[in-house]
Amino acid sequence: MNRDDFPMLESGIVYFDNGATTLKPKCVVDVMDKYYLEHTSNIHRGDYDAAIITNNLYDNVRNIVGEFLNTEPNTCIFTSGSTMSLNMVVFGYMKHHLKKGDEVLLNKAEHASDALPWIKLSEEIGIVIKYVPLNEDYELTLDNIKKKVTEKTKVISLAHVSNVVGDVRDIDAIGKYCHENNILFNVDGAQGVPHMKVDFKKSNIDFLSFSGHKMCGPTGVGVLVGKRELLEEMEPLMYGGGMNSFFEEDNSYELKPVPTRFEAGTTAIAEVIGLGEAIKYLMNIGMDKIHEHEMKLKKYLIDSIKDIPNLIIYNKNSDSGIVAFNIDGVFAQDTSVYLNHYNIAVRAGNHCAKMLKDEINIKNTVRVSMYLYNNYEDINRLVEVLKNSKDIFNIVL
Ligand code: ALA
Repeated sequence: MNRDDFPMLESGIVYFDNGATTLKPKCVVDVMDKYYLEHTSNIHRGDYDAAIITNNLYDNVRNIVGEFLNTEPNTCIFTSGSTMSLNMVVFGYMKHHLKKGDEVLLNKAEHASDALPWIKLSEEIGIVIKYVPLNEDYELTLDNIKKKVTEKTKVISLAHVSNVVGDVRDIDAIGKYCHENNILFNVDGAQGVPHMKVDFKKSNIDFLSFSGHKMCGPTGVGVLVGKRELLEEMEPLMYGGGMNSFFEEDNSYELKPVPTRFEAGTTAIAEVIGLGEAIKYLMNIGMDKIHEHEMKLKKYLIDSIKDIPNLIIYNKNSDSGIVAFNIDGVFAQDTSVYLNHYNIAVRAGNHCAKMLKDEINIKNTVRVSMYLYNNYEDINRLVEVLKNSKDIFNIVL
């Protein structure tokens, strides 16, 4: 759908690396161009016309995010992306509210951004990380989570959708469980928010992180959404201009209210405006429609490749547009190089989820990750190439 909006598709590329980053529709690039070419200015500092236009556009993006996720606009903080958002949660909030021995539940499919900050925090203050086992389909279930919870469990932190095996975690049920048991619920929305409707309030989420560039927006911008009362108690990781009300010789200072206190320095202004446009673009199409489209494509892809004899598929049943596979006996990156020969872009490797190998017994996979502009023709091209993979070593070597 909407393929004409994406100039990069004109080259004929089959773009299946949407988990890494998505293509950008022209409208997103246009609003950023307009900022750079017609109303360049800083935000919250100027009284001239260009600055007023920019202020209004920038501030309105919080309303757009609020509507998109059903949350209060002033609880949406602009960051550089999911990684920064998750680090703010761990080092800005958790570091000051958890103590030695407190337990945090993760799982081995988590991306580095939702694992390493916790590992570092464990080194710093002695929290205990426990890993919830995945089921036989590499899914994270509430039942398995419950088995790991003790009276010391303070946080459950997980990706809404795993970036490798694409399982969609039941954040409604897990959020409700967390809420009823006084456990903080931290969600990495990097692979979920771009692809399906997420309702911050309904899912009882405490912190939600996501990136702009995985949802038709620019790189260098993301969002952290938090419950107001938690954000009020979160420490900024960055101090500087724009986030303080005053500072004096006697070391006294006062920070501006949430969310401004978390946006020190000149932020990624063009990117925030671009993100707002991207979200409007997705809302216009409809998140349910996007998800439904990806699920149809995924079913079609699985039906088309499941009988190819030398193909191992790791996640036939997941409810997202991510398909992880390998050609038997072929290094994943060789497959990716082979597909590139036919102008098909996928990602191969461990996908930054470096502990998942313990659960799926394989270190590297080839990942097809779909988005709204992929179509049946893209899949037919991929399937044809995979069916004829006998020539793979002639091409790769
Ligand atoms: N986290 C991104 C991916 O899964 C980069 O590819």
